[in-house]
Amino acid sequence: MTATPAACPLRTIEVALSANPYPVVIGTGALASLGEQIRARGMKEGTKVLMVTNPVVQEHYGATALASLQAAGFEASTLVIEAGEDQKTPATVAQIHDAAFARKLERGSLIVALGGGVVGDMAGFAAATWLRGIAVVQVPTTLLAMVDAAIGGKTGVNHPGGKNLIGAFHQPRLVLIDPTTLTTLPEREFRAGMAEVIKYGVIGDAALFGELEAAGCISSRTAVGPGLLQILLERSAAAKARVVAADEHEGGLRAILNYGHTLGHVVETLCGYGTWLHGEAVAIGMAAAGEIAVAMGLWSTAEQQRQLALIEAAGLPHRWPELDPEAVLSCLQGDKKVRNGQVRFVLPTAIGSVEIRSDVSEATIRRALYASP
Ligand code: NAD
Ligand code: GLY
Repeated sequence: MTATPAACPLRTIEVALSANPYPVVIGTGALASLGEQIRARGMKEGTKVLMVTNPVVQEHYGATALASLQAAGFEASTLVIEAGEDQKTPATVAQIHDAAFARKLERGSLIVALGGGVVGDMAGFAAATWLRGIAVVQVPTTLLAMVDAAIGGKTGVNHPGGKNLIGAFHQPRLVLIDPTTLTTLPEREFRAGMAEVIKYGVIGDAALFGELEAAGCISSRTAVGPGLLQILLERSAAAKARVVAADEHEGGLRAILNYGHTLGHVVETLCGYGTWLHGEAVAIGMAAAGEIAVAMGLWSTAEQQRQLALIEAAGLPHRWPELDPEAVLSCLQGDKKVRNGQVRFVLPTAIGSVEIRSDVSEATIRRALYASP
């Protein structure tokens, strides 16, 4: 780690699932207590632990995490996989399976995902599928993974035809968030994470949206400051925990978390994985969903302007890219959220409130995104 912070009291937010509830533990210096926290969740001394990470995260935080696991009595080792959205493939998951085989992981063993959403989704999916499911602990090190990806049990990889088309629900035993790890996160990645925080404001937390607006500039960790950072980590985790506990497998309510994602995934897929960061694509997708909502008379131009202003304050893009409208419409049909051929959009109706709609016509999409019928 680049800095050794004073440990602070840890905050715990419960993901209150009826079958397997688990805590999201948040606090400065929490990474050094990883082993201890896992022991507190009932994992025994001597348990085999495979920690999956990527080269950058390994360099900054791998030693601290591994030392903590070993100090707690686990038989822990590390697997470093390549970084990047374009590596989020079945082939990379096969590498994790190979390591699980070589290191003789058993049903009672554990995979720890140390990294951003790419590591978390793949290590989670490897854990979901190894021996039909072993335990996973998520240790997110990007803002985006802290506020969204690490919580809620969605795991998986991309298919050339679309994002995250291959996957499984597999809830972690524990999510451990140490905000100190954000000190080394590139600012562009921090901004990408802010897109998901803005999302929580629009879909259900008008007060959080207001606090972000009041902060003025929210485009870097230093601009946000430690106080607001702690608030937005806790509020986002609590929002996600609430929705996941109410609808674990996305039968209904959980779909609101996809606000900005339906069109964001189109941007990611058609522009090529890695061109836009996931959070940037979500920002573009939220702006586009807002335009559709305005076109349908669901929310006002004034509220759309507030959303665009906040996206700009976070230093995020919101202009719809130059994509062939036919390709966009066809890509939308391949989305996971299509039901009976109808694309389901999450559309804002007010700051803090959204609706799920399956009645958005192609003409409306063309008009909202391309100003043409
Ligand atoms: P990422 O995992 O690619 O990480 C971004 C970059 O930051 C990488 O280059 C990584 O090496 C680097 N990095 C990570 N932590 C760092 C640190 N502390 N210091 C320095 N560098 C660091 O990207 P992401 O934005 O975290 O995650 C995006 C992925 O998450 C997408 O694949 C998306 O589909 C997925 N996702 C999943 C869910 C879910 O519910 N499972 C939700 C949202 C997004
Ligand atoms: N990121 C959307 C979800 O977890 O459901």
